[in-house]
Amino acid sequence: MRVLFIGDVVGRPGLEFTEKVLARRLPDWQPDLVVANGENASASGRGLSPRVAEQLYEAGVELLTLGNHAWDQRELVEYIDTDARIVRPANFPPGTPGRGYTVCPVNGKSVLIINVMGRTFLSQLDCPFRAVDEILDGHRDVQHVIVDMHAETTSEKLAMGWHLDGRVSAVIGTHTHVQTADERILPRGTAMITDVGMVGPRNGILGMDRSRILRKMLTQMPERFAVAEGPCQFCAVLIDLHEQTGKAVAIERVCIYEDS
Ligand SMILES: [Fe+2]
Ligand SMILES: [Fe+2]
Repeated sequence: MRVLFIGDVVGRPGLEFTEKVLARRLPDWQPDLVVANGENASASGRGLSPRVAEQLYEAGVELLTLGNHAWDQRELVEYIDTDARIVRPANFPPGTPGRGYTVCPVNGKSVLIINVMGRTFLSQLDCPFRAVDEILDGHRDVQHVIVDMHAETTSEKLAMGWHLDGRVSAVIGTHTHVQTADERILPRGTAMITDVGMVGPRNGILGMDRSRILRKMLTQMPERFAVAEGPCQFCAVLIDLHEQTGKAVAIERVCIYEDS
């Protein structure tokens, strides 16, 4: 079973480049499941609107994960309970709208997708490690499990990888928007990458307009950030999972640059 996991899609340019790359490359890659982190996919780069989710589904994405920007588009708060394809961090407080995991049928097997958010420099949520453990306890019959660990630090994401080694198929880091070159399969069969990267304008800063970010950093005055323009990059990983055991067989980084 092959899973394509796409990093944080940023703004309209990220959405359009996702559409373009998937239209061109899906026939070669032939994934059985396509997952993307959608927390920055709305036009403003903040949050996910139901309309943009729909556009990502049309482009070939089947499941969407979120992160710290989950609620930046107010419409999603109302909408999220109606769409089982969208997963928000599982360690949000009890009673939060939406779901922290979803089970999706793929090739006659069940695939469990879990989203959790780290705490270091990012949040004061409940423990992400215990949140995943609890979900896994309730799904002992599911072999194919993908965890989107949305976190700021490499250490916390690596810790999640080692915590889950042999218990899930893959731990994919998101949130920093910069792809790391440390993809590997841990000894007990869990594929891991600290950060999968983003789909968005590559000459901005993490997909946002660099002049505004620079101005804020240089002056320390408030600035309204906006999505950058110009050529994009598409960052993802292709993960091959053993059909029966769910263990990872291969993980390959994908990074495609749009012509400038
Ligand atoms: Fe992000
Ligand atoms: Fe994030």
